[in-house]
Amino acid sequence: MDAGDKTLQRDFYLILAAWSILVAASFAWYFWQENKGLSETAAKEARAILDRDNAYRHWLVEQGGVYVKPSEKLPGDPYLKHPQRDVVTTAGMRLTLLNPAFVLREVQTRQADPMRGRSRVVSLTPLNPQNAADAWERRGLDSLAGGNDRFEIVDSPAGAQMRAMRPFFASPPCLACHPDFADGQLAGAITASVPLAPYQELNNTELRAAALGHGTIWVAGLAGIGLAHRRRRQHAGQQRAWALSLESMNVELERRVAARTEELTRALRELEAFSYSVSHDLRAPLRALNGYAHLLRESQGDKLDAEQRGMFERIARNAEKMGELIDDILEYSRTGREPLKRAAVDLDVLARDVVREQAEHHPAARIDIAPLPPVVGDPIMLRQVFANLVANALKFSARRAQPVVEIGASVDNGMAHCFIRDNGAGFDMAHAGKLFQLFQRVHHEREFPGTGVGLAIVKRIIERHGGRVWAEAAPDAGATFHFTLPLSANRS
Ligand code: HEC
Repeated sequence: MDAGDKTLQRDFYLILAAWSILVAASFAWYFWQENKGLSETAAKEARAILDRDNAYRHWLVEQGGVYVKPSEKLPGDPYLKHPQRDVVTTAGMRLTLLNPAFVLREVQTRQADPMRGRSRVVSLTPLNPQNAADAWERRGLDSLAGGNDRFEIVDSPAGAQMRAMRPFFASPPCLACHPDFADGQLAGAITASVPLAPYQELNNTELRAAALGHGTIWVAGLAGIGLAHRRRRQHAGQQRAWALSLESMNVELERRVAARTEELTRALRELEAFSYSVSHDLRAPLRALNGYAHLLRESQGDKLDAEQRGMFERIARNAEKMGELIDDILEYSRTGREPLKRAAVDLDVLARDVVREQAEHHPAARIDIAPLPPVVGDPIMLRQVFANLVANALKFSARRAQPVVEIGASVDNGMAHCFIRDNGAGFDMAHAGKLFQLFQRVHHEREFPGTGVGLAIVKRIIERHGGRVWAEAAPDAGATFHFTLPLSANRS
């Protein structure tokens, strides 16, 4: 497993964990909301019961109790001490008085549904021991009696039921039957208790549905994440395969290029060797030809007529030209084959030396040299460059009344940039392309003699040094040759 696979795997587990946490958090929130809703609903229910009972109690107290016909089941109110408890109407009907708490209890017991909630009246000092407060009720009443003026207390003491209590206080109508009460005193309370079980059951059904929904969403998410992970891994695998095949293609391509280059270099070397040996071997027969022509002319000169002498002269001139051509070709071939002997070269000294040599043959020319920087290169080859370019400049400006040749340099992009400018014949830039090619000439040979090899040599030397050479000119407006060379590191 490589690094890419490991990050993929790690991402996968991270996303998985994030998704699980998200779903769990959502469910937890839902669970909490539901439980809160459950308590609120139960509390509301308990309050509703208190409201109802309170309304009854108020009415009953306003009446001061109610009279009913005594029956076997209900002969009279056993706890009521009241002078008018049992009365007989003028028509002879017997009636008995029921106290408000009694009647309310009757209603409460009839209404009580164990699943919906019960209610009752309680007191800390009950007339009827049935009305004694239980532990929770006692705590509530104690706290109310102790000055807590809360209107009601709602609580879910054991978590099994919701309980609520609303106190009531003694008023003058009470005193008829409760002589111990003082007006405004806490008398007791109505308490309601609502079982939470039915709500919980409802809640549980909803929670189960929610759990099922969350579970389904979770599993669907897992499946989606799993699929996406597989797709990413496949994709990464494909990419690796592509990269591998691309790499092997590159290697193959490089191998082929190297093989071709090797072939080409060999062919080129063979060609150069061939041209070198041909040129070299041509020199001896040419010298012989030339020598014998001279001999013949000197020995037989007086026997020849003017036309025949002219022919000999032409033979000599052509032999000389051919000799120059062969020398130049050998030079060209040498500049290509000989290894570069790199050294720091003081171009300034070199250029002045070349100029001094050549100026002798061109006394009319003015040659200006600006300081040139030191460069790195083969001193002999660089000398050849200057010799060829200065010779060209002098040759093409020789017909001017005042030939001027300028040599100068600047530093561009870490390279020495030299130029040699003349005010001579120039040339049409349309021919600039073939200027540096072997045997190519931009002027007719009759106008300016030459073999057409000099600039090819210049180009070869400069390029072997990692430089560039180019020219700017216009017909009859002079020419400027530029070239660049690597600067010497220890120039001042
Ligand atoms: C007609 C007489 C009568 C009147 C009026 C009356 N009560 Fe009662 N009350 C009783 C009797 C008798 C009981 C006990 C009966 C029972 O639980 O069956 C009782 C029960 C209670 C209880 C329940 C605790 C206990 O003592 O058993 C409270 C609290 C109470 N009365 C408060 C009041 C208040 C407050 C008023 C006035 C707003 C009031 N009563 C008016 C007769 C009366």
